[in-house]
Amino acid sequence: MRRFASMILLAAAMVATVAYTTPPARGQAADVKTAEQVYKNITALKGTPADQLTASMQFISASLGVDCEFCHVQGKPEADDKGPKKTAREMITMSLGINKDSFRGQLRVTCFSCHRGSANPVNMPPVQESDTMAARPAAPTAPPAGAATVTPDQIADKYLTAVGGADAIKRINSRVMKGAILFGGNETPIELYTKAPNKRVSVSHMGGRESMTAFDGTVGWTGSTGGAAHQMSEAEAGSAALDAEFSLALRLKELFPQLRRGRPEQVNGVDCDVLQGTRPGGIAVRLDFDKQSGLLLRMVRTTATPMGRMPVQIDYADYREFDGVKVPLRWTLARPNGRFTIQIKDVQDNVPVDDAKFAKPADPAK
Ligand code: HEC
Ligand code: HEC
Repeated sequence: MRRFASMILLAAAMVATVAYTTPPARGQAADVKTAEQVYKNITALKGTPADQLTASMQFISASLGVDCEFCHVQGKPEADDKGPKKTAREMITMSLGINKDSFRGQLRVTCFSCHRGSANPVNMPPVQESDTMAARPAAPTAPPAGAATVTPDQIADKYLTAVGGADAIKRINSRVMKGAILFGGNETPIELYTKAPNKRVSVSHMGGRESMTAFDGTVGWTGSTGGAAHQMSEAEAGSAALDAEFSLALRLKELFPQLRRGRPEQVNGVDCDVLQGTRPGGIAVRLDFDKQSGLLLRMVRTTATPMGRMPVQIDYADYREFDGVKVPLRWTLARPNGRFTIQIKDVQDNVPVDDAKFAKPADPAK
């Protein structure tokens, strides 16, 4: 049940974090606190920013395919009672050392490199399970000489044209969408209020409670009826900001000034052109555009943690046209610890939405 509840929070959140622990209060950007200043028993991760500890822990859990309780006594994360926590501490030091010594300090080897989703890494190649020869992956082939090369700008422009063009997009400045989060055979109602260029709040309803996830153009926050709102860390807010983009097509080149082409690939059998880009703050994206239609079919967004990068994959489908602009009505969000779909059933453009709707509520009186 907790899993389900937290999935819905995730679903509502659509940001790269799990609402599992209460993140520490953030200091000013100038005096970012380190993990050891905020937490009680930090040795291996000394010097990492405190607001990246939770993300590091999520990366570790996902890499080993375990819950937090594999290493932690519930409610007492500082305790060293469990053996795996002690091993994990040595492993953190080992991993940082490998990267420092052999990969010039770049985060090339992570927990996942060896663990691959299991607490017990495999150290032998497996035997063959069948007598039909397994196909070996073909060596990458260079594109034929003289093949027409599409530039990143052309792909971005084709996307903009495919959704309806800048003029049509600029005629819409707010959009209210109603639909449902589909998860584990259940449907949870959700409403999304969005406003150009990048304000958004999603409100999901479960068991009489409302959960909100919002980005007000500058600050990201999550909250629920009656509870205190929590301001997102910079990394979380970076992802929320991207989700809040009213029209990615319109602002793609502005958001990612250094778009480059990636190796073409298929998404669900559809040939795609691929663009890659990085935002200040370490968020990187890979974008798959349908070669034919030009529409965005997939975004894989990764955020940096001190232990490795965490991916979120969003597939867009069911594009429909409203006021001359194509909008995907279905998106499936997948990450290492979960997956859900949002299906929009109702779209209304240019409905007045008060800016107060996106603002982080004041803490309720204590
Ligand atoms: C594979 C083992 C492992 C897993 C799984 C794990 N942790 Fe940790 N955790 C550690 C280790 C090791 C430390 C101490 C790091 C250090 O010494 O720098 C730590 C430290 C912490 C701390 C700091 C506690 C303090 O006050 O010193 C918190 C909070 C925490 N983990 C939360 C979590 C959460 C939440 C999860 C699940 C998402 C999780 N951890 C999953 C190994 C783990
Ligand atoms: C270079 C490969 C490698 C990397 C990288 C690595 N591990 Fe390991 N890890 C191992 C091996 C091998 C074992 C099993 C050791 C044994 O059998 O004694 C292990 C065992 C463990 C265990 C004990 C599991 C148990 O069942 O008690 C934990 C916990 C663990 N690793 C955590 C981590 C974490 C966290 C990271 C990333 C910070 C990490 N490991 C990175 C190779 C690796």
